[in-house]
Amino acid sequence: MNQKKVLMNFRVNGEEAQVAASPNRLLLEVLREELNLTGTKLGCDDGSCGACTILVEGVPSQCCMMLAISYQNREITTVEGLAQNGQLDPLQKAFCTEGGQQCGFCTPGILMAARALLLENANPSVQEIGQALAGNICRCTGYTKIIAAIQRAARDYQEAAEKEDRVAI
Ligand code: FES
Ligand code: FES
Repeated sequence: MNQKKVLMNFRVNGEEAQVAASPNRLLLEVLREELNLTGTKLGCDDGSCGACTILVEGVPSQCCMMLAISYQNREITTVEGLAQNGQLDPLQKAFCTEGGQQCGFCTPGILMAARALLLENANPSVQEIGQALAGNICRCTGYTKIIAAIQRAARDYQEAAEKEDRVAI
């Protein structure tokens, strides 16, 4: 049954957005259908594949199971929020260089889980990457290239940080 729409306020990728939506709309639906942020994918629709992973205040969260109305004014980051000033994030570049995107369907969710990992752990081991991606299922050729891409991104972030330090001195 359609419920009466209410106005909801969101903060997505650093911008404010207001949406009129039924209280039973899922955050995934609001992002994709109301805000046109279609990078976040719908896979299993039951919280088990990770394709819909976004960050809520930096924490990877599966938005196919979340009521939009409960996430008003929280800091939400979708895959569209990774690129800055028209430049891909080093993590996105590393996926391209290492061929980690494969068919690409799971890639947005994996990028978000990996981003959260690298914010917490600048130099994760293969095992730690595996643990961070435990909720993200890829149905393509496997995880070897995905893991290589995350390791490359970790190196690239560190090199960029060292360069910035040198410039500051
Ligand atoms: S679509 Fe959300 S976990 Fe699969
Ligand atoms: S790249 Fe195709 S599902 Fe992962």
